[in-house]
Amino acid sequence: MAKIILGVTGSVAAIRTPVLFETLTQRGHEVRVVVTESAEYFWDASVLPGGSILRDADEWPRRRLGQVYQRDDPILHIELRRWADLLLVAPLDAHTLAKFALGLCDNLLTCIYRAWHRERPIVLAPAMNTAMWEHPATLRHLSQLLADHAVSPWNDAWTAVTEATALCHHINQACPKLRVLAPVVKRLACGDEGLGAMVEVSTIVSAVEAALDK
Ligand SMILES: Cc1cc2nc3c(=O)[nH]c(=O)nc-3n(C[C@H](O)[C@H](O)[C@H](O)COP(=O)(O)O)c2cc1C
Repeated sequence: MAKIILGVTGSVAAIRTPVLFETLTQRGHEVRVVVTESAEYFWDASVLPGGSILRDADEWPRRRLGQVYQRDDPILHIELRRWADLLLVAPLDAHTLAKFALGLCDNLLTCIYRAWHRERPIVLAPAMNTAMWEHPATLRHLSQLLADHAVSPWNDAWTAVTEATALCHHINQACPKLRVLAPVVKRLACGDEGLGAMVEVSTIVSAVEAALDK
């Protein structure tokens, strides 16, 4: 059974966090949930067991006390990176996808991603409005993830891909340690019917366990 960091970002699909958490823990995994500030707008984090949720403020514990960092204080994103076997981000919103692609690390989740052991698996489940998914920026950002995680030599057919969902397929072939679960068509929270919904919890759990088995 594995130690899993579940990153949750600012998408309506964050409402699935309690079910995803429960499914993973019922299957014997140990799960710690790292939320962005926006993610907590969508669900009540107090429904999860105390201690399982980690927020940006937890990176800076002495701030609450009016103190500054002391030598040998633990650094939370490094402690979590050491602890975890797998990083799952579900839902992954457009903003955090962009930050991962650019290497930006201005919160707990993006610091964990940036400091991640490259030999340990990452599973990403994007969720966004169809127009956001089909925006050229999504393709650019996914291409950057592919370039960052691919093992070489890899088939460069992906450079001709012009559609984000098709690029996910190439990522999953070229990057043994990265799985991107392309979103699906559904009636979205905004009322639009279209591509952009996060895949089902059962699909995420299967992908996590397949990634752990590799
Ligand atoms: C009601 C509401 C729903 C949103 N849903 C999504 C979404 O499904 N996907 C997405 O990429 N952004 C969505 N956003 C925008 C993000 O929450 C916003 O870009 C935020 O800055 C993301 O921050 P984070 O990546 O640090 O969580 C939504 C915003 C609001 C107000």
